[in-house]
Amino acid sequence: MFSLKNKTAVVTGAGSGIGKAVALLLAQQGATVHAFDVNDTAANAVVQEITAAGGSGVAHVNDVTKQQDIVDTFNTIGSLDILVNCAGISHIGKVETTTEADFDRLFQVNVKGMYNCLFAAVPLMKQNGGGVILNMSSIAALVGLPDRFAYSMTKGAVLAMTLSVAKDYIADNIRCNCISPARVHTPFVDGFLAKNYPGKEAEMFEKLSKTQPIGRMAKPEEIAGLILYLCSDEASFITGCDYPIDGGFVKLNN
Ligand SMILES: NC(=O)c1ccc[n+]([C@@H]2O[C@H](COP(=O)([O-])OP(=O)(O)OC[C@H]3O[C@@H](n4cnc5c(N)ncnc54)[C@H](O)[C@@H]3O)[C@@H](O)[C@H]2O)c1
Repeated sequence: MFSLKNKTAVVTGAGSGIGKAVALLLAQQGATVHAFDVNDTAANAVVQEITAAGGSGVAHVNDVTKQQDIVDTFNTIGSLDILVNCAGISHIGKVETTTEADFDRLFQVNVKGMYNCLFAAVPLMKQNGGGVILNMSSIAALVGLPDRFAYSMTKGAVLAMTLSVAKDYIADNIRCNCISPARVHTPFVDGFLAKNYPGKEAEMFEKLSKTQPIGRMAKPEEIAGLILYLCSDEASFITGCDYPIDGGFVKLNN
């Protein structure tokens, strides 16, 4: 079960956190993984790790906000079975503390970046007779979180794009789902704690851990396991769905 032998996968944001765990796991299951990241060192390091473990990987240093670069790179890959859209950035702020520049930056990476990869991948999947797409949403798309105005906006858009793509390409044998994690302990979380709560990182880490009823943050590998399932042939009846993976955050926080 869950074999990805002879499959080709693109993982964006593959250099760190969840994307890295996904790239490593898909390669371990036999896929050739094309690891996209704007961070050169990180993209190459994950491919080195894949290769060292006996897998097959190719690094692509790309910014998902640049449509032509993304399309050109996807076209060099040619045939594509799996797309995991993981690249994303965060912002802390309410509407009054979100500048136009913050809003545009979040939109560019989390929404337009995802659209660019969908735009590049769908024609390749159609040519290939089908494929599977997994988009990273968040619990921020499902419930009102404090101080996550722009971020929540982008993750709501991810959920809506997922449904739209799932509907439009169902007859082309393309499945499209998203997942909505609560907090996952990655450099993304460490980065925003350092930036937004300097000197109080440990205290805030504890506080954020406790917001999951299960009492901790997820590990990237736990998220990667669900993504592997959804991208495998074992999930062939699943499309147009969002899966919370949240330690009880959405349904047990009362
Ligand atoms: N960590 C969490 O708690 C959490 C929870 C829910 C959803 N998510 C989502 O999961 C995804 C991954 O989060 P993470 O915690 O692993 O983050 P991370 O910061 O550890 O990794 C994100 C990666 O994306 C890359 N990236 C950023 N902008 C890019 C761009 N323009 N083009 C290409 N690559 C770019 C970064 O270089 C980095 O390697 C994001 O979409 C995030 O919104 C994270």
